Amino acid sequence: MQIMDRIKKAGVVPVIVLDSAEQAVPTAKALLAGGIDVMEITFRTEAAAAAIREVAEHVPEMCVGAGSVRTAEQCRTAIGCGAAFIVSAGFSEPLVLSCREQGIPALPGCVTPTEIMAAMDCGLDTVKFFPAGAFGGLSAIRALSEPFPGLKFVPTGGVRQENLEDYLRTPCIAAVGGSWICRREDINEGRFDRITELTARASETVRRVRGE
Ligand code: 3PG
Repeated sequence: MQIMDRIKKAGVVPVIVLDSAEQAVPTAKALLAGGIDVMEITFRTEAAAAAIREVAEHVPEMCVGAGSVRTAEQCRTAIGCGAAFIVSAGFSEPLVLSCREQGIPALPGCVTPTEIMAAMDCGLDTVKFFPAGAFGGLSAIRALSEPFPGLKFVPTGGVRQENLEDYLRTPCIAAVGGSWICRREDINEGRFDRITELTARASETVRRVRGE
């Protein structure tokens, strides 16, 4: 299955901050146990690259991507460590082109028609919408979808279990991203059961909304 299809199938992309690469494998396993097989490890800590490598090498069932990527160099590092997709907070043409050269899907954050058009000019048909809550949430996404039929969004930022269903029921939304199922505190305090529980709740919602 193509990576973007795996993201769509999962319905939720957990956005993860790891303070140590040793946390990567137990975190990936906790997510898998809850029924989600994609994860975004963010380049917000020194541990990110090694953490991606750990998951890519030791948890082959997991589709691991890199998040908060800003530069083409970080992009190469992430892909070299085994990242299967690249997520960025905003749109950067050099970043998207670097991903394309390396044959890896890019999911850049776009919140304006101009950014969306730039992303589409690079050949993308799916974009992140970040930070979703602050930029108008569902009403903004619905309005933006009108002039861009066929474009899919992955809203991230402010998505929680409480509003997950509303987001997922919107046809132009491919999946959502968020940190609520895999919180930094839970990882740091070893509460992997809690991560599995929150993941299972989210993944049940995905399956129910999709009638699976
Ligand atoms: C991200 O970078 O995608 C966000 O940190 C996720 O937003 P959230 O914490 O509101 O889920």
